[in-house]
Amino acid sequence: MINNNPIGVFDSGIGGTSIWSAIHDLLPNEKTIYLADSKNAPYGQKSKDEIVDLSKKNVEFLLENNCKLIVVACNTATTNAIFELREAYDVPFVGIEPAIKPAANNSQTQVIGILATKGTLNSELFNKTAEMFQHTTIIEQVGHGLVQLIEDGNLYSPEMTQLLESYLQPMIEANIDYLVLGCSHYPYLIPQIKKILPDHIKIIDSGEAVARQTKNLLRDKVGFSDSTENDPVFYVNSNPKVLESILEHKYPVIRKDF
Ligand code: SIN
Repeated sequence: MINNNPIGVFDSGIGGTSIWSAIHDLLPNEKTIYLADSKNAPYGQKSKDEIVDLSKKNVEFLLENNCKLIVVACNTATTNAIFELREAYDVPFVGIEPAIKPAANNSQTQVIGILATKGTLNSELFNKTAEMFQHTTIIEQVGHGLVQLIEDGNLYSPEMTQLLESYLQPMIEANIDYLVLGCSHYPYLIPQIKKILPDHIKIIDSGEAVARQTKNLLRDKVGFSDSTENDPVFYVNSNPKVLESILEHKYPVIRKDF
């Protein structure tokens, strides 16, 4: 089955580009449209109703652009809104959930850490998943302030180091051997996190799993593209500078109000 329409990807801001990269690497022939709702970032402190409304607005923009499948590249939007999105729209969705399962199943110490937003850690979906791993102690930590610093382009600031140290040190002391990054912004902090964590603690993010799931859905339900016109398109509704720099200036970014 051939389907040359684009894949839509949205996030509260620039962090979902970590997921977009994994999709683009696995499916280089697919055209993609990325939507960064940076004007409304971070989603992590908002109420569920607000997150559902913002997610619907993003989906409608992507549907106006004929997307054949939509990737919710934001943990907070997935854990708070994916049921409502699936109910409201016919298009298939791929969501991003914190990778607790591989961490819990592989942990030797039976203690794992998860760094995520308040919205994700408070969500029913996250708590139901966590309950499935009763044999594992899950140390939950809200990453207060991290998304805003990333959105502002302050990835390597002293403030970032200080926050990360204060969030990770208690996990190290609790003897975690896996750290789950439960927010699509956080993979951009891996170099800084590695400087703080001892070498034996493994870091898990969800990018590759989301890309594989996207590929499976295209194969089974939606159809792959056979077009050669597959340059990605990036939209942002605030200053495009940080998104441009995170994309290493390889792609044009269009500023648009949505
Ligand atoms: C946020 O907007 O607060 C973070 C996005 C995420 O949870 O991936």
